[in-house]
Amino acid sequence: MLSQNKNGGTEKKPKEVIFRIFRFDPNIDEKPYFQEFKLMAEPGLTVLYALFRIIEEQDSSLALRYSCRAGICGSDGMIINGKFRLACQTQVHELNSDVITISPLPGYPVIKDLVVDMSYFFEKLYSVDPFLQPDEEHLPEKEFIQYPKDFEKIEEPGRCILCGCCTAACPVAWTNPDYLGPAALLKAYRFVDDTRDTKRSERLKKLDHENSVWRCHTVFNCVEACPKNLHPTDAIQRLKRSIFVNRVKSIFKRT
Ligand code: F3S
Ligand code: FES
Repeated sequence: MLSQNKNGGTEKKPKEVIFRIFRFDPNIDEKPYFQEFKLMAEPGLTVLYALFRIIEEQDSSLALRYSCRAGICGSDGMIINGKFRLACQTQVHELNSDVITISPLPGYPVIKDLVVDMSYFFEKLYSVDPFLQPDEEHLPEKEFIQYPKDFEKIEEPGRCILCGCCTAACPVAWTNPDYLGPAALLKAYRFVDDTRDTKRSERLKKLDHENSVWRCHTVFNCVEACPKNLHPTDAIQRLKRSIFVNRVKSIFKRT
């Protein structure tokens, strides 16, 4: 809702919004349902703060996960009006709708309401060794030196906040629980191309299996879902090339 301010510009006014929220407590409910809550939403109100107000003013049993409130921790990925978004980074007024439908990330078991069980997601992540493995015998006395051109390669994948939206959006991950998924592969790529890491070849060999990059069907849902505008599909294609080159190099080394 827009109104004219004294300088002739327009400003948004509070408006009533209906929140349709997915509810499901597996200990009590036979099946999931949507519950409606009405709220006056001021300009600047984020969906996360709207959910806080619903909990404080209307129903304290509503469950959600959050932490930083600033788009850093990746805890509050959810489907908001049909799109993967972070609740803390989504303003109610910018959705331009009087009805806001919120549901949990698909593809993960629901623990309660908007909270999903991401154990599978983190298992896959840990399986790619998501940490730097430098040469322990020759560690620098101070910090590692890295040239800007080398940092640029890993800057984008390093911005992943592990919200799980990409893996939740991937149809291959829905149908194959053994698939590593776009988030784990993006993280793998981030370390494969890190000049400070000494395990590039071992990492690439470990990633060369049927439920890794070769399982990706280049669907691009992961790219569309990412609230940080990262490109897991591109990282997966680069990994495929690196794995192939590494295979060829290993064959030549043996001969
Ligand atoms: Fe899935 Fe993304 Fe590949 S959606 S199939 S990981 S391109
Ligand atoms: Fe941390 Fe939204 S609460 S990303």
